[in-house]
Amino acid sequence: MALPQGPNEGRWPDQAFPKPDPVAAAHLRHRYGTWAVVTGAFDGIGREFALQLGAAGQNLVLVARRQGLLDAFARELTQAYGVQTRVIAVDLATGTGADEITARTGDVDVGLLVAAAGFGTSGPFVDGSVAEALGMIDVNCRAIAALSHAFGRRFVQRRRGGLVLMSSLVAFQGVPLAANYAATKAYVQALAEGLRIELKPYGVDVIASAPGPIHSGFARRAAMTMGLAQTPRAVAGATLRALGRWGTARPGWLSKCLHGALMLLPRWGRVRVMGVVMGGMTQSPPPGHTARKPEVGR
Ligand SMILES: NC(=O)c1ccc[n+]([C@@H]2O[C@H](COP(=O)([O-])OP(=O)(O)OC[C@H]3O[C@@H](n4cnc5c(N)ncnc54)[C@H](OP(=O)(O)O)[C@@H]3O)[C@@H](O)[C@H]2O)c1
Repeated sequence: MALPQGPNEGRWPDQAFPKPDPVAAAHLRHRYGTWAVVTGAFDGIGREFALQLGAAGQNLVLVARRQGLLDAFARELTQAYGVQTRVIAVDLATGTGADEITARTGDVDVGLLVAAAGFGTSGPFVDGSVAEALGMIDVNCRAIAALSHAFGRRFVQRRRGGLVLMSSLVAFQGVPLAANYAATKAYVQALAEGLRIELKPYGVDVIASAPGPIHSGFARRAAMTMGLAQTPRAVAGATLRALGRWGTARPGWLSKCLHGALMLLPRWGRVRVMGVVMGGMTQSPPPGHTARKPEVGR
């Protein structure tokens, strides 16, 4: 896939640099150390984690696919907050992406991993390409497993650390028209819940962050229309505050309201409702595409 290289192409534009935060800085340094790895660090939610961690004085390893754009972002972070940065441009859809991150961070004492790289699609599963579906499992699940394993081990050895895994509101039931994506997020949610208990005795905090719709590059890549949505800033701030206190963060009022409303329903009811919601968010197929949008939720 050709990736846009312009600095603002596909970006959610409203991501100003936050002010330095000495209180968060002291807390994060004490709890986790001084280096954090953020995947998906150029856009959306990952970018916001990088901004907030930079503002809290964390040195940052920034991971995404586009080297030039990451280099520029790294320079901006150093200028704004005086933190050290390292850029690792890798494609996490390849089997070796996670290994490369592990190898290229072996010489720094990483204490925090934010695994935010991920993507979704919309539309009928059987109309999409199987290569894309399997690629999504590679990025959203396989890479997360490999990174959680590698950094989880390192954190256990140093007796402190934090894993932040990006789940979603869709993780808690099947979702027609985003069936594969929802299944990948169910994996991440379950992984985080289990690891949280396994790693707690070693001083390692694990959290699943499960937001609802968020303005970012995600919707464009997934060919979805998002009406009501919250900002990446709300996700990163609430998740970092919840890390070490809760197993799952539901950042922002919208995520909480949607989750609360869905949980009133039995699982089969939630599947139906999510199908109707996704039907409204899925963009019409391009001209020439013959498959009909299915009538889900009936
Ligand atoms: N936005 C939402 O509504 C929403 C809601 C719930 C959960 N989430 C989850 O939150 C996470 C972040 O999503 P977002 O909204 O911030 O999306 P986004 O704006 O599209 O950003 C995704 C980031 O991941 C990187 N990335 C994508 N594919 C990659 C690959 N194969 N290898 C390495 N890096 C890759 C992208 O950079 P490059 O393109 O340069 O690689 C980009 O920095 C995802 O796991 C998503 O599932 C999003």
